[in-house]
Amino acid sequence: MKRILITGANKGIGLATVKKLLESYSDTYVLLGSRDLSRGQHTLNELVNSNQQWNDRIDLIKIDVEQDDSVNSAAEEVAEKFGKNAGTLYGIVNNAGIGNSTSGMNKILQVNTYGIKRVCEVFIPLLDTTAGRIVNVTSASGPMFLAGCSEKVKRLLTNPEVNWAEIETFMNESLKASSESGETVGQSSGLGTAYGLSKACTNAYTIYLARQIPNLIINACTPGFIETDLTRPMAEAGGKTPAEMGMKSPEEGASASIFLLMGTPEGSGHYYGSDCLRSPMDRYRSPGDPPYTGD
Ligand SMILES: NC(=O)c1ccc[n+]([C@@H]2O[C@H](COP(=O)([O-])OP(=O)(O)OC[C@H]3O[C@@H](n4cnc5c(N)ncnc54)[C@H](OP(=O)(O)O)[C@@H]3O)[C@@H](O)[C@H]2O)c1
Repeated sequence: MKRILITGANKGIGLATVKKLLESYSDTYVLLGSRDLSRGQHTLNELVNSNQQWNDRIDLIKIDVEQDDSVNSAAEEVAEKFGKNAGTLYGIVNNAGIGNSTSGMNKILQVNTYGIKRVCEVFIPLLDTTAGRIVNVTSASGPMFLAGCSEKVKRLLTNPEVNWAEIETFMNESLKASSESGETVGQSSGLGTAYGLSKACTNAYTIYLARQIPNLIINACTPGFIETDLTRPMAEAGGKTPAEMGMKSPEEGASASIFLLMGTPEGSGHYYGSDCLRSPMDRYRSPGDPPYTGD
């Protein structure tokens, strides 16, 4: 069985990814990550009620990606239950994330960028060393953010040789600049600066990590514009329905993660669009446009 950890899987795109794996890939065993055990248990019960056979293919793991202790305990729990060795896990889907409407740039970076790094650091030793995969769910907000940055920043965050220290320095400079300018994030219902910054930095981390661990397949993707608790407030603010805003279903939002996890992506350290085609990290590529070739 391919054991796969999915963070933030109690609802939204994470839950849709769990369902798709259970429905369409009978060789998978899903570790449903949830920062809140009761919310996770509720979701797990609903899944098992909808299909009793899934009971043998799913387990609940408490994991808050913002907290070192929680991520460490989650890895210990997985190791105790399933084995401490490489090969215990086939894949990790770093899906958990928050939008701007929460509480500021630091928090967004702590969940959307540092959260993914935390999970990777403690769970990679459990991954299959020959076939293991990591999917980082980022966003088209990353390339859109980078498109508006200076050439220097674009080069930094798309550099094949980028390292974590450089990414972290850039995040620290951004935090300092935002506190000095008094810029507020967290009020906007759109996915603006801090969110885009966090996703652009996670894309850059994906380049770095893939270079560090060439035996794993590590990629990032956007799910597309998907109706979830994250985006519904945008429709409400605009007085439109999610469909009128162009939002798609969580099931459609799971496609790119599933492709990167179970399909045949070319290479590692890349960013994919919601249509499962490679896309540039420094400008938006629409679904339907020709794939990015890396030139
Ligand atoms: N929806 C879109 O259009 C869209 C577009 C681009 C990218 N994305 C990305 O897709 C991913 C999933 O988003 P979604 O739209 O499905 O949003 P969602 O419905 O709000 O789900 C987010 C999930 O992340 C969890 N989460 C939040 N903070 C966490 C933490 N500190 N530790 C662990 N889990 C945490 C949430 O748990 P709780 O239930 O406990 O809050 C929830 O399970 C995110 O990374 C998001 O940035 C979404």
